[in-house]
Amino acid sequence: MIIEVLASKEAVGKRASEYIVNQLQNKKSSTICFATGSSPLPMYAHLIELYKSGSISFAAAHAFNVDEYCGLGETHPQSFRYYMKENLFDHIDLPLKNQNYLHGDACDFKAEAENYEKKIAELGGIDLQILGIGENGHIGFNEPSPRFSENTQVVELTEETIAVNSRFFENPDEVPRYAITMGIREIMKARMLLMIATGKSKAEAVKKMIEGEITPACPASIIQQHENAVVLLDYEAASFLQ
Ligand code: GLP
Repeated sequence: MIIEVLASKEAVGKRASEYIVNQLQNKKSSTICFATGSSPLPMYAHLIELYKSGSISFAAAHAFNVDEYCGLGETHPQSFRYYMKENLFDHIDLPLKNQNYLHGDACDFKAEAENYEKKIAELGGIDLQILGIGENGHIGFNEPSPRFSENTQVVELTEETIAVNSRFFENPDEVPRYAITMGIREIMKARMLLMIATGKSKAEAVKKMIEGEITPACPASIIQQHENAVVLLDYEAASFLQ
């Protein structure tokens, strides 16, 4: 695992975008799996700048998303599909046909999950997986549980996650109770993991992820086993590390 500690979340975003540039330079048709939340926003803003200055193109890339709320369609402002369009996809040259996402308003989530994994496999797997970490150590929406999840599936969100994510909703009652997420095994299949964590609220989870035992009680700890994982932190998120 490579760990880089940078001075600010903006510096983390800039550094993270360098990994994306490098990935697309090595393979224009890279398959990238994106994450939502506040952590990757500086990276997305920087990628848009790089695109506008002609330094990067997503024209041959393929995109996926690690998770989505159940019940929210793509026009819902809190859906992750909407977030990706607003914060990145509508501002770059990634073709619409190459934008894959989990449909939060799917009628059949089992079929949705199977089709999603099939599409990823058809494209040869994920080259670069972007991840954030929840305050409880979740990755995607894989919450702490007795064992590591495997496939893409519907999960029940913990009260903690609902409370943390309620900041994005007008009313905490509007936060969906269920989400569909790629499983840990699917996430770990990516050829490279790029984990981004910033802010003091992540310090405890970051410590467990990097220095703790590998346990499904902290799902992010599994990335210790990945052969090509990069963790980008700001000082605050890194502040509890030995
Ligand atoms: C959310 C998402 C994750 C995200 C994480 C951290 O609930 N499901 O994909 O990485 O929690 O979010 P944030 O960056 O806003 O702290």
